[in-house]
Amino acid sequence: MVLVSGSGSNLQALMDAAADAAFGAEIVAVGADRDGIEGLARARRADLPAFVVKVTDHEGREAWDAALHARIAAHRPDLVVSAGFMKILGPRVLGAFPVVNTHPALLPAFPGAHAVRDALAYGVRVTGCTVHLVDAGVDTGPVIAQQAVAVRDGDDEASLHERIKTVERRLLVDVVGRMVRDGWSVTGRHVRLGGGRP
Ligand code: GRF
Repeated sequence: MVLVSGSGSNLQALMDAAADAAFGAEIVAVGADRDGIEGLARARRADLPAFVVKVTDHEGREAWDAALHARIAAHRPDLVVSAGFMKILGPRVLGAFPVVNTHPALLPAFPGAHAVRDALAYGVRVTGCTVHLVDAGVDTGPVIAQQAVAVRDGDDEASLHERIKTVERRLLVDVVGRMVRDGWSVTGRHVRLGGGRP
């Protein structure tokens, strides 16, 4: 199950990977928090069940969390992948499913919605992407995998984000594939891939 809010290029990478049975995972549905995004169009083109649960259609975050939980639960996913989903998930969803998120910075540096802009503004020479488990905080859950991307002279937010996304898509596909095929476990803040299903 994949959650999106934008262009869905990470979703596309997962769909492309899942087209090969050897990947070991099937995408059972795609959820979004808004209409009219390319991520939903990609899901529909691939004939995947897709749904939208907007915060503004609910009386507050708690009701939204419950509604999103119900829509996700109907598809009985083993894993939820937040792939550019720009809302903080609530306790109902997080209590029911393991959730993996991809973030375009090397956490714990530059959490939040403007990670690429913040990294550029700080002047770092190396940034990257992180795949992590989601907990109740903002980009605070245990790290699963990270990959560095060099900042180039003359980079702007768009050029740097595009380069990060190229790396990010491969890392996300690799991590999700390994989790579903080989299992994973968490000890404290340490996530270990392999060793069977949790
Ligand atoms: C990714 O860089 C993700 O980490 C960030 O938003 C971007 C989503 O890209 N939060 P896409 O919608 O998968 O193309």
